[in-house]
Amino acid sequence: MGKKDRDEWIVKCPKCGRIRESCRHVSRDDVARLVRLLKTGVEIYQTEDEADEAEPHVHAPEPRPLAHAVRPRFTMKDLVLAPTTREGLEDALAEVRHKRLMYGRWGLSKVVRKTKGISLLFAGPPGTGKTMAAEAIAHELDKPLHVVNYAQLENMWVGETEKNIEAVFTNAADQGAVLFFDEADAVFHRRGAGAPPWTNRDVNVLLNRLENHPGIVILATNLARALDRALDRRIDVAVEFPVPGPELRLEILRRIVPKQAPLAADVDLETLARKYALTGGSILNVVRQAMRTSLRRGKRHRITMDDFVRAADREMRKSAMLSTDHLQADLRMQRVGGYA
Ligand SMILES: Nc1ncnc2c1ncn2[C@@H]1O[C@H](COP(=O)(O)OP(=O)(O)O)[C@@H](O)[C@H]1O
Ligand SMILES: [Mg+2]
Repeated sequence: MGKKDRDEWIVKCPKCGRIRESCRHVSRDDVARLVRLLKTGVEIYQTEDEADEAEPHVHAPEPRPLAHAVRPRFTMKDLVLAPTTREGLEDALAEVRHKRLMYGRWGLSKVVRKTKGISLLFAGPPGTGKTMAAEAIAHELDKPLHVVNYAQLENMWVGETEKNIEAVFTNAADQGAVLFFDEADAVFHRRGAGAPPWTNRDVNVLLNRLENHPGIVILATNLARALDRALDRRIDVAVEFPVPGPELRLEILRRIVPKQAPLAADVDLETLARKYALTGGSILNVVRQAMRTSLRRGKRHRITMDDFVRAADREMRKSAMLSTDHLQADLRMQRVGGYA
């Protein structure tokens, strides 16, 4: 094979990635044969139907995976948490790290039937760091995080949803991933309440897999009360994520306002933290909004206290609006029905 050929054809081994002449899986002869065939103009298609396609399907939707793997960005150090919340997370980490000791040498497997993995429930209002904590847990354990796509799990054909659920758990187990059901209320709502988006059978399959899964499963919810009672006994560690108090809010503000941001001399983060009972997620919104307001005056202006105050007032109105009863009921319906 001349140099020119090597530049023209790249052979991609599914196990090694790119190879030039051979690898452990594809022999030099295989490569030579492939190149020879490709040079004669042989084309390879997955299905016969596509053999005549003149143009590629630019708009054809990519099949979405049942769960997508996220590389965790956050660590435990990035989280600003109340002591009880942090302890809950650290309990879970301790059990995962020392599972063999607990169940083996310390004899817990003789008392507890299951020697399975561990399931965590993160409960708390939106923006309190639940998604961040799921990433941090995976990061601490050096595992990938598999975030479940509910819309992809659900299938109108009988038995298909069940198969998809099985696949998600099996895949997570194979890859040693932390499995994350964000906004788990979409699925684990009380069975029988209203029109369930999932059949009881599907939920049962899910609960059963949860119980027998050898790895780590994290469920996050904004509405702990709406969760299925049957879920309770399958949860090993429940961690509450409350709205942060003034001191934690100050710490979050200090972390979220970038060092490089041009703050005016009058900006007083202490006052903001004391005055506005906002979650971390809302604080992030406030900081971004204050930047926008400042930018509307021009790039050379500093971000003033007034920019922060306006942004915080606005964010408070937004959360007041969302916590109004009728509105929340509406949102709940939408979420349960729509797998947001
Ligand atoms: N406890 C926290 N510590 C530090 N930052 C936080 C915290 N809670 C929220 N944030 C900020 O808000 C953003 C959104 O939080 P997120 O984890 O998505 O909340 P949740 O999943 O509970 O709705 C985070 O990316 C982070 O910037
Ligand atoms: Mg979240």
